[in-house]
This record gives sequence, structure tokens and C-alpha cells, in this order.
Amino acid sequence: NNHEWIAPTATDVRSPCPGLNTLANHGYIPRNGKNISIPVILAGALEAFNMGPDGLTQAAKFGLLSGDAPDTLDLDALKLHNLIEHDASISRGDLAVTGDNLHFNETIFTTLANANPDVDYYDPLSAGQVQFERLAISLATNPNITNTLKEISVRTRESSFYLSVMGNPITGVAQKEFVQIFFREERLPIAEGWKRANVTITADTLNTIGDIIIAASNWTATQQCEDLVLGP
Ligand code: HEM
Ligand code: MG
Repeated sequence: NNHEWIAPTATDVRSPCPGLNTLANHGYIPRNGKNISIPVILAGALEAFNMGPDGLTQAAKFGLLSGDAPDTLDLDALKLHNLIEHDASISRGDLAVTGDNLHFNETIFTTLANANPDVDYYDPLSAGQVQFERLAISLATNPNITNTLKEISVRTRESSFYLSVMGNPITGVAQKEFVQIFFREERLPIAEGWKRANVTITADTLNTIGDIIIAASNWTATQQCEDLVLGP
């Protein structure tokens, strides 16, 4: 298999997710970004990131609702607002504010890029602070903001994802340089010294990091949603 980084062509499609886009740019999932099944995503995440299926399957199953096909998805369809895609993202604009919730946005990314000053790593505390700041900006600028238990759960899981795939999945400490390349270029920073985690990323490791992030994010709901039932 050829896993070199290749930028998407004009007919390849990409998502609001830097993780899936990185997998596609390295050929761990189809480079055209189309007709992708859950088992293909799970195999790609394990091979590229050492991320096991238990922390990913829920998100992947939700993703199937982005289109009509019964068991595959296209990456660009994942921009469907309020399915998985939410406001106050760390690298994409709010749909109601910028009109683009799909593409990487360097202005939005400033909050994360400048987080944890004076050291060269991000960690669960800094990730929580980034979530707080991004939400404050959205609350101040987006009259259409959605901010319920669902959004904080998804946002926190995503922060745990970037810390875990670019850093140490046990401590949640990740080199800034690796995280920034992951978001800006949707590339594995192998040339810069990144290595795939040597422990498997699981729902347990993600939740351990997520608990610290959520505590540091000083979060309150501005709307209510139904109880979340995500599995048996
Ligand atoms: C967003 C990482 C798998 C769908 C994100 C974000 C990160 C991330 C860090 C936050 C981007 C931001 O806030 O700007 C990962 C990693 C994965 C993974 C490392 C491992 C393979 C998945 C899967 C799905 C998915 C399986 C569904 C099929 C999304 C969507 C967003 C997103 C729709 C946009 C949410 C938003 O910011 O509005 N992902 N993800 N991701 N991810 Fe993933
Ligand atoms: Mg978003």
C-alpha cells in the first residue's frame, strides 16, 4: 500500500474532520473521499493512528445519516449541520457566521495555535481552555448557536482525538508542531518525528482525557437537548 501524503485533486472530496481527511490524504481510506464504509474507516484509523474501534464506531454510525446510501458515506456530506458538525469548532467557522463549516480556517484556528504559551505542547488543560474560548467567541458572534450536551460531548471527544493521535494517548500531551501540521496540512508529521501511538487508543483512554478537558472548559449549556442514548 502506498501511504504517502498526496493533496486531494479537484474531484476528491474532503470533510470538516481533520482525522478523516488525513486518513484520505495518506490513502488509509479512499483518496477520492467517496463511498466509504464503516469497516474501512475503522481499519484505516487502527492502521494509521492505532485507534481501536470502540472510541470511533458511534461517530462513524452517525456519519451514515449524512447521505442516502445505506452503509457508506462521502466525506463532504459530513458538513451537514447539527448531525455531527457543530458550532464552535476549533478549525472551521460556524455555518451561520462564515457560511463555511467545511474548510480549515486559519483565523478560527488562532485560538488553538496560540494556546498553552511558553511550552511546546498542548495538553488536556489547554484543550479545555481552547474549547472555552471558542465557545465564548461563537456565543458572542453567532445568533444561531447550538450549545447543548450533545455539542459539548462531540467537541470534547474531538479534542481528545487530536491530543491522542498526535501525542500520548495516556497523558494527552501532544507536541504543538505535530498538532498544527495535522490541522493545517491534514498530514501525518512523520518527517518531523511523529510516530503512531504505541498503545491502542480506546474509549477508556479517550474518556480519561475527556474528563480533564471538560472540567477545564468551564462549560454550561445554553440550550437543552434530549437525553443522549448512544447504545445499549
Ligand atoms: C471533527 C478528529 C474520526 C466526523 C473532528 C475534529 C477533530 C477530529 C480533531 C475537530 C475539528 C474542529 O473542531 O475544527 C478525528 C480523528 C478521527 C476522527 C483523529 C479518527 C479517525 C471521525 C469519524 C467521523 C468524524 C469516524 C464520522 C464518520 C467528524 C465531523 C467533524 C469532525 C463531521 C466536524 C465537527 C465540527 O467541528 O463541527 N474530528 N475524527 N470523525 N469529525 Fe472527526
Ligand atoms: Mg463545526
